Amino acid sequence: MDIASEGPNAGATEQRAVITGGSRGIGFAVARRLVANGAKVLLVARDPATLEAAVGILNQIRPGSAAGLPCRVDGQERTARLIVDNALRQWGRVNLLLNAAGGATVASVLDAPWDVWRSDFEVKFWGYLSLLRAVMPAFREAGGGVAVNILGVAGKDPSVRLPIASAINGALRNVTKVLADVGAADAIRIVNVNPGATETDLLPDMARGTARLLGRDPAVVLAEMRANAPFGRLPAADDIAECVLFLMSSHASFITGTSIDVDEGVHRGPA
Ligand SMILES: NC(=O)c1ccc[n+]([C@@H]2O[C@H](COP(=O)([O-])OP(=O)(O)OC[C@H]3O[C@@H](n4cnc5c(N)ncnc54)[C@H](OP(=O)(O)O)[C@@H]3O)[C@@H](O)[C@H]2O)c1
Repeated sequence: MDIASEGPNAGATEQRAVITGGSRGIGFAVARRLVANGAKVLLVARDPATLEAAVGILNQIRPGSAAGLPCRVDGQERTARLIVDNALRQWGRVNLLLNAAGGATVASVLDAPWDVWRSDFEVKFWGYLSLLRAVMPAFREAGGGVAVNILGVAGKDPSVRLPIASAINGALRNVTKVLADVGAADAIRIVNVNPGATETDLLPDMARGTARLLGRDPAVVLAEMRANAPFGRLPAADDIAECVLFLMSSHASFITGTSIDVDEGVHRGPA
């Protein structure tokens, strides 16, 4: 898919991307596609060995296309600035951001410890928002840009098992709308993607969390999640990445300030 050059991203023929959570799962699936299309990417994740392996795979696809920054996204402004500055040093400019670092803790709204609420908010709410704020000047400098945030359907359908993610994703939906308003005049688009349950390392984690909460067998919970998939299978990270690539492309030039569900129709209520 052409990821360049009409409408709000006119002139952005060379894509330079920051991808948080880029070493595995949805972030890596997006990185692989971007690199195959000629983009250069900076991957950010905590574990240096996994990150190095991911960068190695991308540089085999296209030598010199990928770099890695081992770093914990922690919601601090200085961390976000360090990440964006690192990409600017590597690639000269930045016109794409994928916010995908994080997970979703399964917990009870009454019993989840405050430090879990805080740390999930740090990584995902403050983490995504700090990256969005840090990247906007670089987007402006580049003549425009696209940020895609991987949220989750719990932001629209608050979930008893995912109270923290429900709060984080709902808050991000609202603030990204405001950022999209602010960015429009500078050819900056901000779009959210809401996966339903997706086959990444996070899925068995969530099955284990649900099993703990309900006193059930994790293997059975995981099997049920798969068996209940409306299309007969859960999406892979690649299925979510296809939508992200579309949103980052010129085919989506007039899509901003909204959320796209990639959830097999699981979300109820208004889009
Ligand atoms: N999979 C699903 O079913 C699903 C559904 C809805 C929404 N989502 C959302 O989609 C996003 C991506 O999830 P995924 O399924 O791709 O998960 P994943 O396969 O577990 O990958 C998560 C990625 O984020 C990195 N990461 C995690 N915490 C980080 C931190 N604090 N700082 C920097 N990097 C960090 C991980 O690397 P390190 O561990 O090395 O840091 C890894 O690269 C998350 O926001 C998740 O909530 C996923």
